Amino acid sequence: MHITSISGSPSERSRSAWLTQFALTRLEGVATHSEHIAVRDLPASALLLADAQEPSIARAVEAVAGANLVIVGTPIYKAAYSGLLKVFLDLLPPEALRGKTVLPLATGGSPAHLLALDYALKPVLSALGARHVLDGVFATDAQLQRHESGGYVPAPELLARLDRALEPITPATRSHQDADELILRR
Ligand SMILES: Cc1cc2nc3c(=O)[nH]c(=O)nc-3n(C[C@H](O)[C@H](O)[C@H](O)COP(=O)(O)O)c2cc1C
Repeated sequence: MHITSISGSPSERSRSAWLTQFALTRLEGVATHSEHIAVRDLPASALLLADAQEPSIARAVEAVAGANLVIVGTPIYKAAYSGLLKVFLDLLPPEALRGKTVLPLATGGSPAHLLALDYALKPVLSALGARHVLDGVFATDAQLQRHESGGYVPAPELLARLDRALEPITPATRSHQDADELILRR
């Protein structure tokens, strides 16, 4: 499975980017190829001018096109996803997510805007053709404690929600599906 993750945070030490890359590590067993796009590393003026021909942006768009699973991570800013994520999503061709599985992830200062995944991000994913959207995972900052290594430590309930959201594509679930199919065949 080809997996591309997109991080839409402008922060250097970003919780949502960490969570997005952490989700990739939970999928190591099923990923045959994975790529991470940090939108903050793409050239700002090309992003703002929607220059999809700029080489690093063109490569990022290609990485989305080649993925079976796209993980979209964002901080919650002013009750919605980040503007940085939006400028990148706006560069994608129409139907860029058609036929792909999409996992939406967000981090926010409090649970107040946890529904932003549903009312703000999911309609955009749907407009890009995504029809197989996994359960969104929202984490508060308190659920991602800083670690001295520079990373974060996910709270157990967050880890459980992330693994549950990934169940449809992880081997454990596939073996359940296989078992179900066997039962159906009998
Ligand atoms: C400009 C700005 C706006 C924010 N707006 C919200 C908000 O509306 N709701 C919320 O829960 N958190 C809000 N936050 C907090 C961030 O969503 C939160 O700290 C998040 O984990 C940051 O993610 P990052 O580290 O990936 O950038 C805001 C933070 C900033 C800098």
